[in-house]
Amino acid sequence: MGLLDGKVAIVTGAGHGIGRGHALELAKEGATVLVNDLGTSLKGEGTGRDADLTVDLITGRGGKAAANYDDVADFEGAGRMVQQAVDTFGRLDIVVNNAGIARDATIWSMSESDWDSVIRVHLKGTFCPTHHAVNHWRALNKAGEDVSYGRVINTTSGAGLVGNFGQANYTAAKAGIAAFTMTVSLEVFKMGITVNCIGPAGATRMAASIPGAGIEAKEPDEFEEWNPMDPSLSSPLVAWLASDKAGHVTGQVIRAVKDEIVHMEPWSNGATIRKAGKRWDPSELTGLMNADIFHSRAPGLRY
Ligand SMILES: NC(=O)c1ccc[n+]([C@@H]2O[C@H](COP(=O)([O-])OP(=O)(O)OC[C@H]3O[C@@H](n4cnc5c(N)ncnc54)[C@H](O)[C@@H]3O)[C@@H](O)[C@H]2O)c1
Repeated sequence: MGLLDGKVAIVTGAGHGIGRGHALELAKEGATVLVNDLGTSLKGEGTGRDADLTVDLITGRGGKAAANYDDVADFEGAGRMVQQAVDTFGRLDIVVNNAGIARDATIWSMSESDWDSVIRVHLKGTFCPTHHAVNHWRALNKAGEDVSYGRVINTTSGAGLVGNFGQANYTAAKAGIAAFTMTVSLEVFKMGITVNCIGPAGATRMAASIPGAGIEAKEPDEFEEWNPMDPSLSSPLVAWLASDKAGHVTGQVIRAVKDEIVHMEPWSNGATIRKAGKRWDPSELTGLMNADIFHSRAPGLRY
């Protein structure tokens, strides 16, 4: 008995890396997987049939899978992908939004296309599949079906939660995905659908592209033993969030890195000053901000 027997999942960007790890894990737990991948380079250029590689791995291990080659950030394409899962496998239970690209550059040398393409693939590429999947579940729900099996699992990054030098486009998109998760979880709450966000890590081509990191890209199925760089170390968390056991968990951001699972606390109010219904004068803020808000510590800079 697997945790996901009888369920149908879409995993985007699952031809390689972290997405491949999720697809293999979901299939191992009994889910049938629609493996999406546009087959691009790290920078989002070109197309290919990379989804087939993961489909072959799943079917070779006795699982059930099919490939989809749509661009997740193409509104119509994402709609076709959702429809393909329903038409091919008869239902849809789980959407894992994982596809991503990177075009790192400091703010002064980042081009307009570096910005637009990274925001598009990550942020719009999370919106489009979620929109179509939720509409699929909503139509069933309106017709009287209990759709509380519905699961959306998005992908942020530690960098998106705290910032990272040279990644203004990527971190803005990843922080946006965390906010998107919280908002959509509220909107679908009444239907019992859950929307959560994971923060993975691993020695993928994306991680290997970080200058000076000394990381060699390796696929999850190339690791034979537990290894802190294995890109599939967040996949058990994804499988659990996708299961009926996690129906009470929604709107959460959870990182799974190496052997740790860390619940990320959302933005929350810190030190506060008040002026009893009166407008602040900028000149009085120097002393108050330093003493009562920053407690005389230099705020912000980590480098
Ligand atoms: N590798 C890490 O350490 C790390 C850390 C935090 C977050 N992440 C996130 O994990 C996710 C997976 O990254 P990865 O490291 O496995 O990268 P990867 O480059 O190995 O895999 C990404 C896959 O997405 C596919 N893809 C790109 N654009 C697409 C599109 N428009 N439509 C469909 N597929 C598309 C690519 O073809 C590729 O196979 C990304 O969202 C990334 O931001 C990775």
